[in-house]
Amino acid sequence: MLKMPLIGLGTWKLYAEECESTVKTALELGYRHIDTADEYQNHEAIGRAIKSFPRNELYLTTKVAVHELLPNQVEAAVPRFLKELQTDYIDLLLIHWPNPNVDLVETLKTMISFQKQGLIRSIGISNFVRFHLEMLAPYQFPILTNQIELHPYLQRRSLVALCKKMGITVTAYRPLAKGAFEQDPILQEIGKVHGKSASQVALRWLIEQDIAAIPKAASLQHMKDNLDIFDFKLSPSEMLQIEKLDQGKRFCAPAGMPIFED
Ligand SMILES: NC(=O)c1ccc[n+]([C@@H]2O[C@H](COP(=O)([O-])OP(=O)(O)OC[C@H]3O[C@@H](n4cnc5c(N)ncnc54)[C@H](OP(=O)(O)O)[C@@H]3O)[C@@H](O)[C@H]2O)c1
Repeated sequence: MLKMPLIGLGTWKLYAEECESTVKTALELGYRHIDTADEYQNHEAIGRAIKSFPRNELYLTTKVAVHELLPNQVEAAVPRFLKELQTDYIDLLLIHWPNPNVDLVETLKTMISFQKQGLIRSIGISNFVRFHLEMLAPYQFPILTNQIELHPYLQRRSLVALCKKMGITVTAYRPLAKGAFEQDPILQEIGKVHGKSASQVALRWLIEQDIAAIPKAASLQHMKDNLDIFDFKLSPSEMLQIEKLDQGKRFCAPAGMPIFED
């Protein structure tokens, strides 16, 4: 079974032809992990982009939406996802956002039933905080990852530590804070030392901690840069400088979604 690559391509806000051509280019450049979600409305475009690519070399993540978490809804969603994505299996299926009105244990049990059939290789969660993790702990579900907003301005150290303690890997979404790090003087300065951009430093800071990241990029240069972070290391003092950038600042708070404190 393919392991989740540390860098994946985020695809939020990529639609139709733009999405298809961006994903195709990403695969040519060497990306092997594509992150999508039912709510991104781009399954079909991704399906077209990956159709002629060797499936066993690709890691595909998608997510069930916050309002589709009842067992019967998940049962209907998974076969639809497979059809839309033109694939026989999904590498990783996540609960996109915890819904306080749904019994998430039942949602996960339904996801596991698809895992047992081989239609989903791994299951995971997204936007889960301590409260949810502690609620799930007694069940010992085989949760591969918790995908959360994470970057130098939002470091969530205690949540990350708890995930690690529970054997759940962390995946950082919005890892570039939508491009904000390009203006950060500390990250720029560290970048200069290594011949890298501030955004590349931000991604490297995650990788140094064994945290996966799924930056979105539509421009060719950004796509290349985000893969080009494996030929340098941050020193302990650089890691410490970046630690000090934490502001607890979220860049993701979608309207109508419940926000849970860590
Ligand atoms: N689970 C969840 O609830 C959740 C929530 C939000 C996001 N996500 C996932 O996480 C992915 C990434 O998050 P995001 O798309 O919100 O934000 P992001 O990856 O932090 O930022 C994307 C923005 O940064 C720019 N960029 C990319 N690489 C860059 C670089 N090397 N230097 C400077 N700028 C760069 C992109 O520009 P160009 O596109 O012009 O290249 C784009 O404007 C999403 O696409 C989605 O797959 C998940």
